[in-house]
Amino acid sequence: MTTPALSVDDAIKTRISIRAFRADPVPEALVREVLDVARWSPSGGNVQPWKVIAVAGAERQAVIDVARKANMANPAGEEGDHPIYPANLWAPHRDWRFKVGEDMYAKLGIPREDKFARLAWVSRNFEFFGAPVGLFFAIDTRMGHGQWAHLGMFMQTLALAAEARGLGTCMQEAWGRVRVTLKAHFQLPESEMIYCGMALGWPDRDAPVNTLRSDRAGVDEFATFKGF
Ligand SMILES: Cc1cc2nc3c(=O)[nH]c(=O)nc-3n(C[C@H](O)[C@H](O)[C@H](O)COP(=O)(O)O)c2cc1C
Repeated sequence: MTTPALSVDDAIKTRISIRAFRADPVPEALVREVLDVARWSPSGGNVQPWKVIAVAGAERQAVIDVARKANMANPAGEEGDHPIYPANLWAPHRDWRFKVGEDMYAKLGIPREDKFARLAWVSRNFEFFGAPVGLFFAIDTRMGHGQWAHLGMFMQTLALAAEARGLGTCMQEAWGRVRVTLKAHFQLPESEMIYCGMALGWPDRDAPVNTLRSDRAGVDEFATFKGF
């Protein structure tokens, strides 16, 4: 076990989505180590509804190849997809989403009107933004909304364990757009689906996109205090 260099608060606050990575490999032992931490995430009834597929090397390349092909054939997402956002997302959530997108493209130097460059950037998702390791999170479709929330807690715990070890992550719902292809590629059982991917690797600290610090609403904008 490596010794994490960050407090929990520091790991939470320094973690950002990393979208450019160094090519250096991440040893399997280190991937196992962050998974070994993440498995202590809580879940209602301790049902532990998560499943993880980790890919590197030739397996990573194989999944990139099938995903890029599937995304090109169907850029709007495959049939049977669960939409990433609700239709007609409302304020303030719509505004947060718009702002982080514009802030990211500003860091990348891609203007609004350059739709081609923006699409090309989105397709970098399907290369894990250059990360040497890709993780996929699968769930049994018989699970309910509670278990989906618990899977999210697992993913965040994993991201923090990675952060504490100097690794960078980017959660990637974009992989949901090729969910049908991934299911076939990984030969998942009928009842299972891929929810999300995650890029995992050593951050490229010189890449401008990795300087994006997204905003958050203040505590009083989302919390109500009663009886204090
Ligand atoms: C479940 C989940 C899925 C995400 N999917 C993507 C994705 O497909 N591509 C991407 O570039 N960022 C993705 N993100 C990153 C979010 O845009 C990012 O977390 C948000 O803007 C806050 O920024 P931060 O992670 O740097 O704090 C995802 C985040 C989460 C939590």
